[in-house]
Amino acid sequence: EIIYNFFKAKDLIITPATILKEKPDPNNLVFGTVYTDHMLTVEWSLNFGWEKPRIKPLENLSLHPGSSALHYAVELFEGLKAYRGVDKKIRLFRPDLNMDRMLRSAARITLPEFDKKELLKCIEELVRLDQEWVPYSTSASLYVRPTFIGTEPSLGVKKPTKALLFVILSPVGPYFSSGSFKPVSLWADPKYIRAWKGGTGDYKVGGNYGASIFAQNEALRHGCQQVLWLCGEDHQITEVGTMNLFLYWINEDGEDELATPPLDGIILPGVTRQSILDLAHKWDEFKVTERYLTMNDLIIALKENRVKEMFGSGTACVVCPVSDILYKDEVREVFIYFYYFSSSLVSVDIRTNTNQMYHFLKVFKICKSVTIKRLKA
Ligand SMILES: Cc1ncc(COP(=O)(O)O)c(C=O)c1O
Repeated sequence: EIIYNFFKAKDLIITPATILKEKPDPNNLVFGTVYTDHMLTVEWSLNFGWEKPRIKPLENLSLHPGSSALHYAVELFEGLKAYRGVDKKIRLFRPDLNMDRMLRSAARITLPEFDKKELLKCIEELVRLDQEWVPYSTSASLYVRPTFIGTEPSLGVKKPTKALLFVILSPVGPYFSSGSFKPVSLWADPKYIRAWKGGTGDYKVGGNYGASIFAQNEALRHGCQQVLWLCGEDHQITEVGTMNLFLYWINEDGEDELATPPLDGIILPGVTRQSILDLAHKWDEFKVTERYLTMNDLIIALKENRVKEMFGSGTACVVCPVSDILYKDEVREVFIYFYYFSSSLVSVDIRTNTNQMYHFLKVFKICKSVTIKRLKA
């Protein structure tokens, strides 16, 4: 039995960068292309357990070309954001949920266990060191990318005896080049499947994403921006691109309902998804359901004018409305009556606490009710 000597934040070895890079203009950021001055690394081996965590200037990794992450995608990642409020304070959005998911992914991809509280403390330390990189802007934030890779220098398909956990930071603007408020068009074709029961779709492991790019390109070729991932004979609606999916509609029984597919093994359990569900339950203004939705349900509802809004949710874009869907060579318009959810940017909320408009009022509630971890000054 392996006894893990978990790494601890108090053992951090910090080597600050001597030359600091120039900060980019927050208005011209392209998602995930600019990196901050520092990174966090922690090495693990079966023989020695966890080494001391290090924060050091961002640099290239040196890996054996046989590393299992490169050959068999023994790797996982996370994505969360640090926001700067109008009070200038920096807050991470529900980072404990990302740490939970990261541990689940590690177990699924046979990477070693770690102490999630200690990793979070190390991440806070990294963000603190690079705090000037958290944009002073209401439309930009600092994206935090924890990554964990197998570095076993062996071509055998097996559980790695060496691994590297690292965290990099990237200041980001809106995820889509069209901007956050602009609705996206979707390509729905059952030809490609993102996830299946017993697979890894409900874990944030790299293999899921590399394999999805082909379909994404096909969506672009069809003039759509994202893939609407379908599953099963009945064309269940599962996710949108790398976002969870919500339908706000009048359901078959005539009830106002916010619906999203259940976490039955093929849906990535999104932090944003959970936050929206938590809030909507709390508001108690309409039915909130985790249920199956098929293309047929959607088409009938569209015909009967029962769809109020459809949107994707995820850390990168927060909430993103859907404008139309290309399905069986026909375009179905998702008529957006009212940007009830989509116009409410969680990020705007955390920063400004504004409640001047109705949708911002909704967002304001988000700020009040979710746990937002504040970094110590
Ligand atoms: C497939 C998939 N679905 C949904 C999400 C949204 O999850 P979250 O809200 O935690 O960012 C992501 C992004 O992490 C994802 O990769």
